[in-house]
Amino acid sequence: MITLYRLRFLLTSDGFKHANKFISNGQLLNLVLFPCFASGRAVSSYRKVNNGVSHCNTVKGHLTLKTFSTATVNKLCWKCGSSAELFFCSSCNVIQPPEDKTSYFDIMNCEQKFSLDTQKLQKRFLELQRALHPDNFCQKSSKEQEYSEEQSALVNKAYRTLQKPLSRAVYMLELQGVLLEEGTDASADPAFLLEVMEINESLAETRSQDEVSAIGRAVRGKLKDLTEQMNSSLNKGDLLTAKELLAQMKYFTNIEEKVKDRITEGY
Ligand SMILES: *[C@@H]1O[C@H](CO)[C@@H](O)[C@H](O)[C@H]1NC(C)=O
Ligand SMILES: *[C@@H]1O[C@H](CO)[C@@H](O)[C@H](O)[C@H]1NC(C)=O
Ligand SMILES: [Zn+2]
Repeated sequence: MITLYRLRFLLTSDGFKHANKFISNGQLLNLVLFPCFASGRAVSSYRKVNNGVSHCNTVKGHLTLKTFSTATVNKLCWKCGSSAELFFCSSCNVIQPPEDKTSYFDIMNCEQKFSLDTQKLQKRFLELQRALHPDNFCQKSSKEQEYSEEQSALVNKAYRTLQKPLSRAVYMLELQGVLLEEGTDASADPAFLLEVMEINESLAETRSQDEVSAIGRAVRGKLKDLTEQMNSSLNKGDLLTAKELLAQMKYFTNIEEKVKDRITEGY
C-alpha cells in the first residue's frame, strides 16, 4: 500500500504560488502527492488511489484536475467477509460502517456534476434515511446500531451539502483540492466590491418594504446568474473562475439573508 496523504491544493489569484497542505479532516479524498512540471510551473497532479492512474493537466494556464470517477471501493463485509455495498452487505444484508473516502456524490448516488437533479437527490435522501434510520436497528447488535447512527449522520451531511448550490460548489472545489480562504476579500474585484457595498448601503438606508423586496429580487437574479456561470466553469474544469464566482455567491447569499431578515422583521 502506498502512503496516502490528504492534499489540499491552494490556488492564489496571482498565479500558481501554490502551497500544498496536508490536512486531516477526513473530508477530502485521499490523494497522493505526485509532482510534475508543465509549462515551467510546478503543478501537482494526483494519483487516484484505487487504480493508480495519474493525471496532470494544464489548460490555458488554468489548473484542471479531472474529477474522480465513482469507482466503488472493494470492501468486505465486517461480519461475513463477502463483498459489501456502500451501506449493506450483498450476502448477509448487514449494515456496514461508513467509508472515509466515499464522496458525497457516491453516497447520494449521483454524478459528480454541479447541475445535479435535486429532485432525484431528495428522493435518494428519503430512501436512504428510511433504510438507515437507527429506529430500524434497536433490536440489533450495538455495533449495527452504531453504524446506523454514523451512516444516517453522514447521509444527512451529504444531502445538506449537495442540496444548495453554494455548499455544493464549495464541496466540489474542495474535492478538487481548491482551498477557500475564510473572510478575505483581498482578491475580489474592486468593481464587484463597490457594487456589493452599494447594495449594502441601500439596504441599510431604506425604510421601504417595496425597496427591500426589489433588492431581494435583484440579488436572487444575481445568484441565479452566478449559479449558471458556476455550472459552466465547473463543467469546463476552470477552477480559478469557479473560485471567484464562489466568492461572489457568498457575498450575495449574505445579502439575501439580510433581505430575508428585513422581510420577517416587517420593515
Ligand atoms: C455587505 O454585507 C454583507 C452581508 O452582511 C457582508 O457579508 C459584506 O461583507 C458586506 N460587503 C461590503 C463590501 O460592504
Ligand atoms: C449546466 O451545464 C450543462 C453542460 O454545459 C448543461 O447541459 C446544463 O443545462 C446546465 N444546467 C444549468 C442549470 O444551467
Ligand atoms: Zn455480510
